Amino acid sequence: MSTKDGILAHLQAHEGYVSGETLSEQLGVSRTAIWKNIKTLRSCGYSIESVTNRGYKLISSPNRISADEIASGLKTKILAKNIFCYDIIDSTNEEAKRQALSGAPNGSLFIAEQQLGGKGRLGRVWASPKGTGLWFSVLLRSSLIPLQLTNITLMAGLAVCRAIRSFTGCPAMIKWPNDVIIGSRKVCGILTEMAAEVDRVEYVIVGIGINVNNASFPDDLLIKATSLCMESGSPLQRVGLLQEVLRVFETLLVEYKTDSSALLTEYKKFCVSLNRKVNFTRNNQKLTATAVDISPDGELIVRCDDGTMVPINSGEVTVQGIYGEI
Ligand code: BTN
Repeated sequence: MSTKDGILAHLQAHEGYVSGETLSEQLGVSRTAIWKNIKTLRSCGYSIESVTNRGYKLISSPNRISADEIASGLKTKILAKNIFCYDIIDSTNEEAKRQALSGAPNGSLFIAEQQLGGKGRLGRVWASPKGTGLWFSVLLRSSLIPLQLTNITLMAGLAVCRAIRSFTGCPAMIKWPNDVIIGSRKVCGILTEMAAEVDRVEYVIVGIGINVNNASFPDDLLIKATSLCMESGSPLQRVGLLQEVLRVFETLLVEYKTDSSALLTEYKKFCVSLNRKVNFTRNNQKLTATAVDISPDGELIVRCDDGTMVPINSGEVTVQGIYGEI
């Protein structure tokens, strides 16, 4: 870790002042080096107060997310060891695909302040306004890919749900397969894409969009979408939440790679779709049924009015009482 990152990590870990002496002892560099690096951090947009005899205190971080800030304090061993940060990009999923073809390693993170062509599920557009949310994709190569590929999607939803709960206290839940919602509104969407040959998955890209500090939404989304800021009443530090999502996602990928039954038990605790009426389309027919379970392959099992059980594995499913699809 560079001296600059080390200083940042110390200041982020302490709410009060950290003395120049402590920093120079901990990082093994001179007080002059500390001062020079504080100046560099300030020029990068960090507001750092310095008070004689007390030391330095981090007042605020730049709104723009940087690779340094993500890396500092990140508690993962595999995910986001390579970070690709962009101001503006078409779509982080598209960029992840391009970089995957150029050899980007397992776990690489692609994140942008703004997406001009953010992609949602089922060919929809994902609105990704500048500096408000977390718009990112993670590239997974074989060592992290579970036996059941659909489980990656469930794990990603569960990771975001758990991270939101621990980071904000908001009561996030999951709408099958992986929309994260608060109350009846969507706060996060996930788009998983993969490249495979006949008998081998080459890579998987998990694209995650979390509405963090959006202050409002266009009229057509207002009743369907929400942000963490709107739910909790104050803006959130996006990097801290991102680090928590990555930490939990990695834990799930490692813990549940070969144990989908443990994953499903955990997932079902947070899945609002179960025991509710759902609407879906099958063979061009609009049907209503009750969602009763998730199969070992990650499908939603529904019980139709005539008692037949039907597994649903993709497409559009609306849960009555929860927003329609976005
Ligand atoms: C959905 O709910 O429809 C899925 C939305 C996924 C949005 C994210 S934002 C980061 C990544 N890049 C994209 O273009 N899409 C995903």
